[in-house]
Amino acid sequence: MSFNLKSVVPWGRTLAEYQKMFGLTPAELKLNLLSVGDGPASFNAELSRLQGTVTSIDPIYQFASAEIAQRINETKTEIIEQMTNNSDKFIWTEIKTIDDLLNIRVEAMDIFLDDFEKGKAEGRYVTHLMPDRTDYKNQQFDIGLSSHFLLLYADLGIDFHIAAIEEMLRICKEVRIFPVLNLNAEKHAVTDAVIAHFKNQHLLKLIKVDYEFQKGGNHMLQIYT
Ligand SMILES: C[S@@+](CC[C@H](N)C(=O)[O-])C[C@H]1O[C@@H](n2cnc3c(N)ncnc32)[C@H](O)[C@@H]1O
Repeated sequence: MSFNLKSVVPWGRTLAEYQKMFGLTPAELKLNLLSVGDGPASFNAELSRLQGTVTSIDPIYQFASAEIAQRINETKTEIIEQMTNNSDKFIWTEIKTIDDLLNIRVEAMDIFLDDFEKGKAEGRYVTHLMPDRTDYKNQQFDIGLSSHFLLLYADLGIDFHIAAIEEMLRICKEVRIFPVLNLNAEKHAVTDAVIAHFKNQHLLKLIKVDYEFQKGGNHMLQIYT
């Protein structure tokens, strides 16, 4: 698999944020979950501690935790600079300052790093580059999640997003994607094209959720197989 760690800006969110972004209920947290492009989020580590069942897939899992930790350190200043320059695109109510944000993200990524080697040995962190076909069976997972990966990186192109979501719909009974905006917090053609592509064969819902950090980014796309 050809994937360069230098191309990733690692940034990880928490279980509490995943619950809000995807409107996950306590009952849903007990299902068999897949998280695509899960990166250094603490979702898997925190939910596994609570006896949840979650598989995370991401190409960065081919690297050792020390390499991922080094990449996190290399990019922290760059991300904070970008966030400072674009602070008007975010809502600073729950997360109040850039320092707050940095603390929450670093804490989440530390929880991930502490869990990573153990979780990899247990098969909870799986190296995989979407949109390649996975080894999972049809409908193996109850819910497939994509936080801040699909639709957000609109530059990957419409074909990439459609192929990746098609593979998720093969292996998951339901798919949830958050946010539906691009990196500039704008509505964009990829989301429209994805909805147009899947709406004839699948039930699609744009659901307002109780999470908004990117201004206007408070909807998830839910797709049923
Ligand atoms: C902004 S991070 C989001 C991490 C996590 N989901 C969260 O919300 O905290 C985007 C993630 O997408 C992953 N990614 C990039 N290209 C990918 C691909 N082709 N297949 C799967 N994951 C990919 C990156 O490695 C990175 O970890």
